[in-house]
Amino acid sequence: MARIPPQTRQEILDKTDYLSIYQEHVRLQRKGASYWGLCPFHSEKTPSFSVSADTGLFYCFGCHKGGSVIQFLMDIDKLSYTEAMEELAQRAGVTVHFEESEKAGEAERERQALLELYDRLSRTFHWFLMQHPSGHRALEILQKRGIPDDLIERFSLGYAPASRSWLFSFLKAKGYSDNFLKRSGLFSRNDVAWPLFADRIMFPISDAKGRIIAFGGRAMDQDGPKYINSPETALFRKQDTLFAFAQALESIKKTDEAIVCEGYMDVLSFHAAGLTNAVAPLGTAFTSYQAMALRRKASKVVLCFDTDEAGLRAAERACSIATAVGLETSVLLLEGGKDASEILERQGAGELTRMAKNTINSGLFLLTRASQLFDISTMEGKAKAVAFLFPFLDAMDSDVRRQEYMKEIARTLGVSAHAVEMDYAKAKASGSYHQRDSANPSVPMGSSGSARTADLVFIAAVILSNNPFLPSVLQLDSEDIEDARAKDLIAALKEAEKEGIRDIEGILSFCPDDAAVRFVHEIDASGELSEGLEKIIEDGLARKRKKALEKERSRLVASLQAKCADEDRMQEKSILEKIMRIDEELKKTGGDLDE
Ligand code: CTP
Ligand code: MN
Repeated sequence: MARIPPQTRQEILDKTDYLSIYQEHVRLQRKGASYWGLCPFHSEKTPSFSVSADTGLFYCFGCHKGGSVIQFLMDIDKLSYTEAMEELAQRAGVTVHFEESEKAGEAERERQALLELYDRLSRTFHWFLMQHPSGHRALEILQKRGIPDDLIERFSLGYAPASRSWLFSFLKAKGYSDNFLKRSGLFSRNDVAWPLFADRIMFPISDAKGRIIAFGGRAMDQDGPKYINSPETALFRKQDTLFAFAQALESIKKTDEAIVCEGYMDVLSFHAAGLTNAVAPLGTAFTSYQAMALRRKASKVVLCFDTDEAGLRAAERACSIATAVGLETSVLLLEGGKDASEILERQGAGELTRMAKNTINSGLFLLTRASQLFDISTMEGKAKAVAFLFPFLDAMDSDVRRQEYMKEIARTLGVSAHAVEMDYAKAKASGSYHQRDSANPSVPMGSSGSARTADLVFIAAVILSNNPFLPSVLQLDSEDIEDARAKDLIAALKEAEKEGIRDIEGILSFCPDDAAVRFVHEIDASGELSEGLEKIIEDGLARKRKKALEKERSRLVASLQAKCADEDRMQEKSILEKIMRIDEELKKTGGDLDE
């Protein structure tokens, strides 16, 4: 994959007048070490958006968004990383040369070949659907379900012929090798000639740019699984991909909102009803990656899952996932049909459009669910209902909103807000309810008010300094750092050093721990370090040195005790000498040895 070399990235950042870029969107006023203004990412009346004069990073104390001017451009103009860099490069007058390594070149060729194959094949399937007699039944099914022809074109829907030998010979005749076809995701793992898709309605799945990267195939009769989806290939990662994202993109940007529904047919039904901002995950649960992809294009999301129990459960989880990435989330409960497709087929496009307006916000949806799922006339039921809402409370990124929601919970359940707060705090401390999805590493976590430790402040200072790659820091043994966030930050620092990336956001991008990243932003924005940065680093290094010396000393004392038992006098002497040297040095650091 092409990428921007670290030196170029650095050059662009060095030449960027970051303040003028922020000022195009925010009116900033200097106060102390930072500039302040009204946050462009959430509505507010008093400024909580800050830009650090030292580092050029922005941070909002209200919505906790933060990062470099690159991130700012990505968020405010809904740009990809590459697009933002290109924009900055152009302003700074730097020419960007994308670099390609040998290995990357090979992977890129494979990707290109796969893209070409999928593109070709989708057009062939489409031809079968529209032109070939064998596709007539499939076309009729689609039409009967209310999918108009222009949508069939727009989504390039198709039909895969029933013959089990057709696909392989078709592609062999086009010159594709067995080995390549094995990796293509179109054939059985055990038998390269056996096609996954035969006698099915084909839904091409594309990436954000509209390039086809996989297929979903719906059976037309009862035999076999209802849907088959392509396996993951070099092109296709299920949890990153949303069906119809490319087709919905314009509308998502324009309406600042996306509808997330359950599957292929629901998406098509919404589009048929003129709601062209509908997308769907691919037969799996809605993931944080998908939520983040949407968050880059819009600020709101409407979840519309089936009204059965499974659909409601999926909606519950999706509420927290979407809220955690900062999407304003609501839920659409359709009446008179189990899903959008049924309503379109039975009641028509007008009715579906009308119903789509009946959304309720995610907080209310979950609270209603909680009251239905538990017997809230009993104390125990109330406690369970409150606990049911913890993941959602956790997903909220504003303490004010969380407070308000706790009050709403309290009112609905007839308990005191204080009791809700206490239960939540207790559960949070014990970590009992936490259901963080391991596939979703970077869900922003709720409050960042966790304890600050000396190590955390120290490492934050190092990262914010002009010279973040101090050898004495890079050599720190992570065992000597207790704070998990500080550990993650050091790991990120090491990673960035290896990659030659030295700007603050670049370093932070290697840190999967949002609490840690947020801490660095907050302490930067507070201006607290702008005077005493050097001193904090010096003290931190001294403290770590002392710790290492003490550890070494205990190790030597222990080995001395062992050696005494062996009566090995010579070694004993040399160990004693080492201990004395350590004591000398420790005395100089002014430390005492009790620990
Ligand atoms: N799905 C799947 N594999 C299955 C069943 C479902 O991958 N065996 C996924 C598909 O992405 C499907 C979605 O789950 O679109 C929703 O399933 P379902 O409601 O059963 O299908 P619909 O898309 O609604 O199709 P239809 O209306 O034709 O039943
Ligand atoms: Mn369905």
